[in-house]
Amino acid sequence: MEYLNIAIAKGRLVDHTIDILRAIGINFPDYHEKSRKLIFEDPVKKIRIVLVKASDVATYVERGATDLGVIGKDSLIESGANVFEVVDLGFGRCRFVVAGLEATVLQKHKFIVATKYPKVTNQFFTERGQTVETIHLNGSVELAPLVGLSDCIVDIVETGRTLQDNGLKVLAEIFEISARLIANKASFKTKHSRIDDFINHIQSVVYEKGAVGQ
Ligand code: PRP
Repeated sequence: MEYLNIAIAKGRLVDHTIDILRAIGINFPDYHEKSRKLIFEDPVKKIRIVLVKASDVATYVERGATDLGVIGKDSLIESGANVFEVVDLGFGRCRFVVAGLEATVLQKHKFIVATKYPKVTNQFFTERGQTVETIHLNGSVELAPLVGLSDCIVDIVETGRTLQDNGLKVLAEIFEISARLIANKASFKTKHSRIDDFINHIQSVVYEKGAVGQ
């Protein structure tokens, strides 16, 4: 049996994903949170996971380096990747928001938005008929309005602590997001029965967890 390869976004989504895989009998004997290894295998079930940056998961899957991927809906939308989105995994829930120091910045004729998500940002403000200049940052986005780099930010909020600790407030809600299982389009055909079986097992755990409230 061939290995089924899964790219997982490093960080918050890994532990949840490993838990779900464990629940369906897939185990990675040498995995532990502090390991710096990037590839882990279950040699019995023939599942291999690779840990990659969130913004790279869609690339690995789209190009067929892995058959499947676990990725936040935020990174998936931003990637624009041509992949199948097959399961809403239910965990990793957070919100896309516009945040800033003062709501009045949104009344300006034109304002500057700092974000890790320029595509989502441009789409949101275009739909509202507002003209913005987008500055693409790679992290610590909350800093931008504090040092005068931007008028506001578009970012994801999970607990709200980062906004709170930096004195920023939510100025507008964009939409809610969660982790998704995505599939390479060719693998979906060539490894169909394995992927289908995998999806069915994952769905049974996701729905069970959803039923008892994650
Ligand atoms: C994300 C996001 C916010 C923060 C929100 O950043 O961009 O900064 O988490 O989480 P909270 O609402 O629970 O505080 P991440 O931790 O991925 O780090 P980064 O800024 O370096 O991208």
